[in-house]
Amino acid sequence: MPRRLLERPRSLALLVGCQFAFVAYFSLGGFRSLTSLFGRVSGPVFDYSRTHDVYANLSRLLPRERAPPDPARPLPFCPQRSPFLVGPLTVTFSRVPTLEQIQAKNPAVQEGGRYQPPGCEPRSRTAIIIPHRNRETHLGHLLYYLHPFLQRQQLQYGIYVVHQAGNSTFNRAKLLNVGVKEALKDEEWDCLFLHDVDLIPENDHNLYTCDPWNPKHVSVAMNKFGYSLPYPQYFGGVSALTPDQYMKINGFPNEYWGWGGEDDDIATRVRLAGMKIARPPVSIGHYKMVKHKSDKGNEENPHRLFDLLIRTQRMWTQDGMNSLSYVLLAKHLHPLYTNLTVDIGTDPRAARRPPAPGHEGQRHRSSTSLFREEMLRKPPRDPVAWGDRGLALTPAPPYPGELHRELPVPGRPRGQAQRYLFYL
Ligand SMILES: *[C@@H]1O[C@H](CO)[C@@H](O)[C@H](O)[C@H]1NC(C)=O
Ligand SMILES: *[C@@H]1O[C@H](CO)[C@@H](O)[C@H](O)[C@H]1NC(C)=O
Ligand SMILES: *[C@@H]1O[C@H](CO)[C@@H](O)[C@H](O)[C@H]1NC(C)=O
Repeated sequence: MPRRLLERPRSLALLVGCQFAFVAYFSLGGFRSLTSLFGRVSGPVFDYSRTHDVYANLSRLLPRERAPPDPARPLPFCPQRSPFLVGPLTVTFSRVPTLEQIQAKNPAVQEGGRYQPPGCEPRSRTAIIIPHRNRETHLGHLLYYLHPFLQRQQLQYGIYVVHQAGNSTFNRAKLLNVGVKEALKDEEWDCLFLHDVDLIPENDHNLYTCDPWNPKHVSVAMNKFGYSLPYPQYFGGVSALTPDQYMKINGFPNEYWGWGGEDDDIATRVRLAGMKIARPPVSIGHYKMVKHKSDKGNEENPHRLFDLLIRTQRMWTQDGMNSLSYVLLAKHLHPLYTNLTVDIGTDPRAARRPPAPGHEGQRHRSSTSLFREEMLRKPPRDPVAWGDRGLALTPAPPYPGELHRELPVPGRPRGQAQRYLFYL
């Protein structure tokens, strides 16, 4: 009888002790060592001080003589790993190549910006979709690097430029929806690459193929962010989804007019659709951003942050591919790309706001967005959420319920709430 009494507090103490040790272990970074224990491989190492010309030996890729296709003897698959990959590439913006120069350097590219490797069956058919308005210089740089880059990877590909007609506020996500829909009318693409016009890939090991299970965020290391991920749920720049994955998240939202916010919405959609975000290793996903002056017609989205993010969980099944409406004004097959000119309507809020000071330009990247600045100024303390590991799935974004819980409350600075929201 007295023994049992003694035992009880002892087992209680044991329990509390265990719990304490558990908490201490995790808060002192135990989880991180735990995950590294279970084989999170960091990416291969590349020497970015020794780069190659993206056009080096490209002529070796040209077909010697194109035998007429013989249905009885299908082509062999291209090798798992293309023999033409060289790793880090030299990317400079000192001279703007003309479209004629790019054409001359890419004789194997066919009308509409299509290509298919000679002599072997590609392992991926990839559509590159680029939302665009009045960024011809950037487009020149991108096409100059992207064509040889994709040929080195032995992919079948097509490049689509989705041109927003009219003067309304730019709407990146909606243009991407249009591009996906139109591209899939052309071909049964396996993989959709949603590509900002001002980001140039710097390593040809960054394969423009899709992850079969999860949407892939590809531009994980941009020079603008010091070659690391700005925050764990970041999904902007370049991403890749299979058509199935794209439909599963109901595409992208159509209602983000102006700069920013849509990529956070998309990351939330991925989570709500029960998927995760896949990423290439940081050592491979290097991108260089073409510098630009701030431009107009891309006012920052004034309704971003919480109202729209919370809207995501309510609306993502209703706002997206299934509610997409637009008018295709023209489809022009340029030698280096397919130009889709579309009328996607106007920003419903524009009427209620003072008129925009100008109408040219696309997104204003070096924006004064308080939101992004907040993100970028304060790297998360939590080492688990941060990517010092290479190939990894990022921790999932907060559950919808947490979005509510972290809403700014009176007396609490807004920025703080934002930080918690994303660094949970
Ligand atoms: C180009 O090909 C030559 C000869 O095969 C080879 O020595 C050289 O390393 C190649 N360069 C690149 C960048 O692949
Ligand atoms: C766009 O703006 C330009 C100049 O500001 C104007 O000439 C043109 O008519 C406008 N286009 C449309 C479709 O409103
Ligand atoms: C695409 O076509 C439209 C006209 O249909 C044109 O105004 C625009 O400049 C073209 N864009 C590109 C990048 O060729």
